[in-house]
Amino acid sequence: MTQTLPLEAIETAGRDELATLQLERLKWSLNHAYENSPVYRRKFDEARVHPSQLQSLADLARFPFTTKQDLRDSYPFGMFAVPQERIARIHASSGTTGKPTVVGYTARDIDTWANLVARSVRAAGARPGDKVHVSYGYGLFTGGLGAHYGAERAGLTVIPFGGGQTEKQVQLIQDFRPDIIMVTPSYMLAIADEMERQGMDPASCSLRLGIFGAEPWTNEMRAVIEKRVGIAALDIYGLSEVMGPGVAAECAETRDGPTIWEDHFYPEIVDPETGEVLPDGEFGELVFTSLTKEALPVIRYRTRDLTRLLPGTARTMRRMEKVTGRSDDMLIIRGVNLFPTQIEELLLRQHTLAPYYQIVLTKDGPLDVMTLNVEPCPESAPDGAALEIARKALAHDIKALIGVTAIVEVLEVNGIERSVGKARRVIDKRPK
Ligand code: DLL
Repeated sequence: MTQTLPLEAIETAGRDELATLQLERLKWSLNHAYENSPVYRRKFDEARVHPSQLQSLADLARFPFTTKQDLRDSYPFGMFAVPQERIARIHASSGTTGKPTVVGYTARDIDTWANLVARSVRAAGARPGDKVHVSYGYGLFTGGLGAHYGAERAGLTVIPFGGGQTEKQVQLIQDFRPDIIMVTPSYMLAIADEMERQGMDPASCSLRLGIFGAEPWTNEMRAVIEKRVGIAALDIYGLSEVMGPGVAAECAETRDGPTIWEDHFYPEIVDPETGEVLPDGEFGELVFTSLTKEALPVIRYRTRDLTRLLPGTARTMRRMEKVTGRSDDMLIIRGVNLFPTQIEELLLRQHTLAPYYQIVLTKDGPLDVMTLNVEPCPESAPDGAALEIARKALAHDIKALIGVTAIVEVLEVNGIERSVGKARRVIDKRPK
């Protein structure tokens, strides 16, 4: 039998035991935020709530939300709840405009984070002796160092490559023969392209498992990656404000969406418009409250990720449905709402087209125009007739199934910019 890494007791504890722990930790976290972070004290006072009013988990709904704007307003360190000498590390998420969102960790937070990424890596199917190639970016981004500490904590051999230098990534994958890769799904595809360019069949590489996250990706993309690279592709979810990678992770036995590590992060789903808490199973915006974080407690943090909560399967903890969109990524084209992943799903039905796409938005007078750039699979590139059929079929599916007219343009092979981290799916050229 293949040796596996053991689970922690809490991963299979009863639901009651988990809820008792959550309540105890939640009381601690609300108190900690109120007593030590002036921003939280002000927010709670303004909302006329006090941590002592929390008697049950459901009482959390009485507390105010935290948003990215709160972090921006207190840039850089204003929301930290411990003195600076206790901050062991800073990370930041770049954001497309303005100042980055800055997050901090105590030594204990880093330790908790390493444990949770280790738990995630085990859940995905890591085994003792595995070598892990980390291609998430190192630096202020939480991906690289988060994956690194967690894989190390799980007792694995870590190869800290980071993002970029794709040619060299491939060479080292060939030479070092890693079992696991941790990378964004879009960059995995670029690495697979480079393998082919170097005359290698990606499916014959040493990798057995990919732990993918940091951007929305569909189950269709999972199937494409699994076939092309000959690996199991598992999902890891997280965000800097809440911790980084490892807030939730998919379990190899069930592959049914990330299990939320609920003993450290209490999830809620709220109506994105009204903020009302929705029951499990309903779609809405994911909100997290940290239960153990010291440096930067987050109370009811609005992730803007849209999903729903599902019952636990491989673990006691609840799952979330794979995040395929965030409210910020939603495009409104001539009144129709659309997420880039809906396009991804339809594109991947066309086997003569490659799994790369970019949506370009422009204006024709007052009207939005959506151009979808795609490219052929290298082996179909010479077959103009087949590509024309695929192009038309894709435009038809987008119109019929999403309700938007898209101008589909088939560029040449490699015509679409490859990401080395999070893919840029949309270029908005509309005048502001
Ligand atoms: O992307 C942390 C991370 C690194 C997660 C590596 C997984 C692997 P941020 O840069 O703060 O942190 O971006 C967080 O990325 O709110 C989601 O919108 C998106 N995201 C992260 N993981 C997933 C995933 C990292 N598995 C934002 N599926 C989040 C879909 C994801 N979206």
